[in-house]
Amino acid sequence: MVPTDSSLIERARELRRIIEHHARRYYEWDAPEIPDAEYDRLFQELQQLESQHPELLTPDSPTQRVLGQVLQGFAAVTHAVPMLSIRTETDTSDAGARDFDARVRRELGLALDDPPVRYSCELKFDGLAINLRYEQGVLVQAATRGDGETGEEVTQNIRTIRQIPLKLRDQPGGYPDVLEVRGEVFMRRDDFEALNERQRGLIASGHRHEKTFVNPRNAAAGAVRQLDPAIAARRPLSFFAYGLGWVKAWGPDNTRVPRTHSATLQALSDWGLPVDDHHRVVEGAEGLVAFHQAIQGLRDDLPFDIDGVVYKVDDRSLQERLGFLTREPRWAVAHKYPAQEQMTVLRAIDVQVGRTGKLTPVAKLEPVFVGGTTVSNATLHNEEEARRKDVREGDTVIVRRAGDVIPEVVSVVLERRPEHVGPPFDLVARLSGRCPVCASPIAREEGEIDWRCTGGLYCPAQRKHALLHFAGRRALDIEGLGDKLVEQLVDQGIVTTLPDLYKLGVAKLAALERMGDKSAVKLMAAIESSKQTTLARFIFGLGIRHVGEATAKDLARHFGSIDRIMEASSEALLEVADIGPIVAHSIRGFFDQAHHREIVEQLRAAGVQWSEGQGVHGDAPRPLLGQTLVLTGTLATLSRDEARELIEAAGGKVAGSVSRKTHYVVAGDEAGSKLDKARELGVPVVDENGLRALLAGAS
Ligand code: IVH
Repeated sequence: MVPTDSSLIERARELRRIIEHHARRYYEWDAPEIPDAEYDRLFQELQQLESQHPELLTPDSPTQRVLGQVLQGFAAVTHAVPMLSIRTETDTSDAGARDFDARVRRELGLALDDPPVRYSCELKFDGLAINLRYEQGVLVQAATRGDGETGEEVTQNIRTIRQIPLKLRDQPGGYPDVLEVRGEVFMRRDDFEALNERQRGLIASGHRHEKTFVNPRNAAAGAVRQLDPAIAARRPLSFFAYGLGWVKAWGPDNTRVPRTHSATLQALSDWGLPVDDHHRVVEGAEGLVAFHQAIQGLRDDLPFDIDGVVYKVDDRSLQERLGFLTREPRWAVAHKYPAQEQMTVLRAIDVQVGRTGKLTPVAKLEPVFVGGTTVSNATLHNEEEARRKDVREGDTVIVRRAGDVIPEVVSVVLERRPEHVGPPFDLVARLSGRCPVCASPIAREEGEIDWRCTGGLYCPAQRKHALLHFAGRRALDIEGLGDKLVEQLVDQGIVTTLPDLYKLGVAKLAALERMGDKSAVKLMAAIESSKQTTLARFIFGLGIRHVGEATAKDLARHFGSIDRIMEASSEALLEVADIGPIVAHSIRGFFDQAHHREIVEQLRAAGVQWSEGQGVHGDAPRPLLGQTLVLTGTLATLSRDEARELIEAAGGKVAGSVSRKTHYVVAGDEAGSKLDKARELGVPVVDENGLRALLAGAS
């Protein structure tokens, strides 16, 4: 035999060491350092090396066994039928599907003119494989795959997954005495995002031992192997069944065991197990290709991650003829899609200002193809997250883009950190304390995660948001001033601040996209009529942080005039019922900025007006305090909103339906069922004049 080049021996050794390392991180610690695609590449390099130089093969090579060890703390379960894995076809083009069909036909000894092979095609869910054991139809045990021979008993945790039936649904044909169901536990993308959002909140509020999860697969694996089932129960997991394990001989001559894989899926579904409904039976290579392409088109819209599809020879007798090859059945293959995680270099960290002033650190990346598109920016969420991941400029990072979720940096590949990397990320230092767009001071309130620009209406980044809010139905109510229009007005520089809205003319508006003369005239009329407003709507419309509709009403009632609100000290603001230190601080901070006071002046100068009063300072009479009224029908002069405002200003509440707790029903013309209900329950009914009397304190 020709002696093998020593550098090849060395390379094989090195690959084994690296693969073992990453396999341990992936399978046992649920904390991978490299993307799956990179792991696959290393694994394939080793496989190729070993097949070209069989003398390099060692019995303990990671290519010779299924990886993963039993963790301490869970009971070991020996699988009655080993849990195998499937061969992965990483050629993401159509050729991957054609190769599989060709191999199957060759191994079955089929000739060119033999009919096409039928395949059951499914999604390849990205989670972890689980074996569910049902005895007499009752779930008695759930186990992870482990090393394929022996897994871990995780019954308690699996029982928390609502979709998994604790008892099988009875069928006309019954079910086997012992039935093992194989399937995938995974986490939906929205559940994953919500979980990480919650984790970020916990970390920010001081729970430093908490962590965010790298991806849904990881979060699912962590939850299933969580020793505390109470924690596992709070992790939102999902499950799909895709096959059988051990099944006790069943039915006369075992005839009830389905003869095809597709019929097995149907049986599982009939027994009440969740089966994803994208699976299809197709014929031949063309059928496989069509399925692969169809699912690729759907991939981003699926509520969960998949990394490919799985093709299985449908006929069980053909499966038996094809048999197994050490690790994998010859009758199945996983056909991949482009990876949703990739490695790339982080060039710089920028800070972006969102529409609400939120400051988000964003990684500027060496462009990389991930999840089907080229990504050059990825979010780091917030300062805390960036620091915890210890992301530095110059680092190699793992980027993830799945579905329509914004690409994010999931972790740093520390092994690849260059000698000269940037310092730990510090948002305030980076920005010298000022908004990168408008240079207003930035601030972070106690207990909050995000830093924000305090520029508000003045900050260009927040302009569109501010305009839409101001024009909203519950603020100045400018009908027709929607998203698309604001977008154009701001982008074309026609409107920069709120007062500019009142300088618009028909000609300027009509020139915009999708605006005819008619809609321009209509919009102008809406802008004109918005000038007649109320103090509460005006305050709400300014978009002061933490000042919602209710607070705006409280402020209007309490102070009675915008000047008094603008001048109010924090102490004076705190006297308003329901206003606490955070809100008071926010209002004071808003009006401390000269540009905000100028905007108020300019809006007044443009003709925006409301009636002002003395304010109630908390001790003025509130004749409807504690009373609930219901409005129905059309009142003589007041609109619904106006009536509501008057009632609330007098301390009352407006409810949507009549009950025994209703104090008055205010009925106008064409009052409907609410009036009937009031009569039925004996609730007093008044008209608009009656309402005015109540507001004046006569009852
Ligand atoms: S069948 C003998 N079907 O992929 C075939 N597996 O590498 C056993 N997986 O461990 C597996 N979706 O965790 C099968 N529709 C599907 C699957 C699927 C995801 C996972 C499973 C398995 C791994 C195989």
